[in-house]
Amino acid sequence: MPHAPWRVVNPDAPRRVIVTKELPGRRWLEILAAAGCRVEVCSDMAVLPVEAIVKAIGERCDGAIGQLTEPWGDTLFGALAAAGGRAYSNYAVGFNNIDLAAASARRIPVGNTPGVLTETTAEMAVALTFAAARRTGEAERFLRAGRFGGWLPDLFLGERLHGKTVGIVGAGRIGTAYARMMMEGHKAHILYCDPHRNADLEDFAAAYARFLETRGEPPVVCRRAKTVAELLAASDVVSLHTLLDESTRHLIDRERLALMKENAILINTSRGPVVDEAALVAHCRRHPDFRAGLDVFEKEPDLAAGLADLENVVIVPHIASATRWTREGMAVLAAANVAALLAGHPVWNRPDIAAFLGDDPPAAAPSVLNAGALGLEMF
Ligand code: DGY
Repeated sequence: MPHAPWRVVNPDAPRRVIVTKELPGRRWLEILAAAGCRVEVCSDMAVLPVEAIVKAIGERCDGAIGQLTEPWGDTLFGALAAAGGRAYSNYAVGFNNIDLAAASARRIPVGNTPGVLTETTAEMAVALTFAAARRTGEAERFLRAGRFGGWLPDLFLGERLHGKTVGIVGAGRIGTAYARMMMEGHKAHILYCDPHRNADLEDFAAAYARFLETRGEPPVVCRRAKTVAELLAASDVVSLHTLLDESTRHLIDRERLALMKENAILINTSRGPVVDEAALVAHCRRHPDFRAGLDVFEKEPDLAAGLADLENVVIVPHIASATRWTREGMAVLAAANVAALLAGHPVWNRPDIAAFLGDDPPAAAPSVLNAGALGLEMF
């Protein structure tokens, strides 16, 4: 299959790094250039097949930056290792496209890009929540179709979210940021489900509740649900922020959808396969007051049959992290991972990665998923 040419930057540098998509900004290229890397960037917008990436890796390749749409497993890590590769970074915080065992078996460290997507992705979850609650997609289609005949008392009645109960499945960085936005902005009560207690979120909510009480406003409540079922049954909005692995695939299926309130809102900015999309279509058909807001899809870029026809579903094409600041930050972190690993620097692996976005970044790889498995030195 023919693919668009690869753009070469810094052609005479001693190290060779391939990047399977154009990335936003310029700083990432400067980082790789400063690390002595010739950078080959694929300008094809289509998802590259594995064979095309193997071909691009070629016989000598020191490192690679790949995309969440590419399956980095035995074949690709095998090709990279055989070409002398010693560093890989995903251009994503999620890593369900990576076979970490396959990378570790070849002693290839795998970086990702946490920290710069947090608020941006949470903001999209909030946007989808309100778009679904207030039916903005439906209303816009109605207006653009020239059907608006003037203000009416019952035109597009939606759900008021102020003070409602919001369920968070997966209270990591993004889930916590979303919880706080809903709590602080809209006085939502938070119910969360996570393998670990989120003491920080609970403490914040308790302090915020005390503050509200000093102003004579009703306090918010935040507590950890014992089970996903408990959370689903009690929440007016459910937002998914979990990792995708075998324990979370189809976490939201026909039975679990049936536990939710008939007028609940389901938001997914995590990974598509966390929701059984065919079951969701059937549920939304049966329950017109139920709403969903989706950024991710089970078989991306394809949508389940019927999904796009549903008026009670808001859909956007996996753009939750798509702000310029975030996408440029992701590029900086991915380049910093590869540059530092090739230079033999230690691994940072701390939650705060802000130092890498400044002018004097630490001599470390910002985030390496298999640092422990490979026994890499920590910063
Ligand atoms: C990620 O980084 O995992 C996101 O899905 C990209 O938007």
